[in-house]
Amino acid sequence: MENDKGAKTGYPYTRMRRLRRTDALRRMVRETTLRVDDFVYPLFAAHGKGVRQEIEPLPDCYHLSVDMLAREAEEIARLGIPAVLLFGLPASKDAVGSEAYAPKGIVQEAVRAIKRAAPDLVVITDVCLCEYTDHGHCGVARDGEVDNDASLDLLARTALSHAEAGADIIAPSDMMDGRVRAIRRALDERGFAQTPIMSYAAKYASAFYGPFRVAAESAPQFGDRRGYQMNPPNAREALREMALDLEEGADILMVKPALAYLDVIARARQRFDAPIAAYNVSGEYAMLKAAARNGWLDERRATLEALTGIKRSGADIIISYHAKQVALWMKEGTA
Ligand code: PBG
Repeated sequence: MENDKGAKTGYPYTRMRRLRRTDALRRMVRETTLRVDDFVYPLFAAHGKGVRQEIEPLPDCYHLSVDMLAREAEEIARLGIPAVLLFGLPASKDAVGSEAYAPKGIVQEAVRAIKRAAPDLVVITDVCLCEYTDHGHCGVARDGEVDNDASLDLLARTALSHAEAGADIIAPSDMMDGRVRAIRRALDERGFAQTPIMSYAAKYASAFYGPFRVAAESAPQFGDRRGYQMNPPNAREALREMALDLEEGADILMVKPALAYLDVIARARQRFDAPIAAYNVSGEYAMLKAAARNGWLDERRATLEALTGIKRSGADIIISYHAKQVALWMKEGTA
């Protein structure tokens, strides 16, 4: 083909396959590479001693008691993974989620143990009430609804108690309006002006949280979360959520889930200069694990392809249950 200036373009002058022929050529023109530094590994802290119980719908992930978590943290740090995201299973639940902000609550104890065992590992704590309330909602309930403003104070208290225990980054996941501002204020007032907030800014009401709710025993006991989490068809609304959270003081903006929302990640990347995190959630992990265990997918290739897609879409930080496995593959040179 010649274009109107007489230049030769397109087939047969242009042949895209030329740069795909050998492994070395493909390596030279590769655009996206996963690094161990991209990952955050989620952990579930449970009461007791010596507890290491596999979570059925999250194969190879465990409920770990605080003593076991310390060992796990050392291993994660040795693998070079920079950060963990911590969730807790309380001993008991009540209407106002008291154990979420108890100074000796499960997450607070776990943070202290992990920081002792692996001081350089960044400990991010999930701030939410759903694991701690008897009704399983992310805030306090009033007349069958989750009361936004009444929840803010408890979320801020939870964040503060995590920071006091030594958390390095606070990650609110409740989707109440104004919670980033409430948490930023509480942290600043109490001497934690240097503690960053990673906001679950665009968190969708997703079916892909199913395995997590088994793992965290946090399924809502009435209704669902659609009254506060985002409606999956909406992308422009996600950008508004993110802009508001930035204004309120968020340091890192998260999109969650990842794989069904790559367009949202890409648009967030274009619109904002803040770091963008993507949460490759429990259901996304469970699907690959289940298929791989049935012999229906090549686990390594499918996992790396999915995670590379998340990075290619624009995520700077990938929170994933695959993180440890990927770090191991990287160590052995197969990732
Ligand atoms: C707590 C929270 C949830 C997840 C992270 N924090 C569950 C939910 O909102 O129901 C989901 C994580 C996952 O599925 O891996 N609010």
